[in-house]
Amino acid sequence: MKIHDKVFESYISETEINEHVTRLACAISQQFSDKNPLFIAVLNGSFMFASDILKQLNFPAQISFVKLASYLGTKSLGAISELIGVNEPLRDRNIVILEDIVDSGLTMEKLTAYLYSQGAASVVIVTMLFKPKSFKANIKIDFIGIEIPDYFVVGYGMDYNGYGRNIREILKIAE
Ligand code: IMP
Ligand code: MG
Repeated sequence: MKIHDKVFESYISETEINEHVTRLACAISQQFSDKNPLFIAVLNGSFMFASDILKQLNFPAQISFVKLASYLGTKSLGAISELIGVNEPLRDRNIVILEDIVDSGLTMEKLTAYLYSQGAASVVIVTMLFKPKSFKANIKIDFIGIEIPDYFVVGYGMDYNGYGRNIREILKIAE
């Protein structure tokens, strides 16, 4: 499939995605149903993952959608250029971050530090995809859907230059 100016091929099916989402949602429900967590979904990439996870939780939850960016094209810029949309007080809250993909981990490292600086009681990270080879951050990724090699992927919320977030499966860049 051609997206923008590159060719992508099927990589992770909708069925496989759903299996991991269900597993993660069960684990989160077990650990957090009595902790009144505040979910933080990192836009834009996590909108589909966050929606799927939230629908499967077994308790009424609060969620804030935040926006930040560290990517331009297929290259990580390594820094948060913007953080907007945290509309609940963070002090003493147990925060659960929902992220589409953790690559270098710098985005999550900076976001975690920011949340603690605002008085969060605890912060855990839930990510659909994790690229352990690129990871260089000094934080723990608590819940992981699937570990992948250093492929550039698109779909299920993730984009290539703004395109492809709507694709239901996950594609990887063709060799
Ligand atoms: P990090 O700060 O290097 O961990 O980058 C994390 C962010 O970069 C993710 O939230 C994604 O939005 C984006 N990103 C990382 N890898 C990919 C990819 O393979 N495809 C699309 N976006 C990606
Ligand atoms: Mg993201």
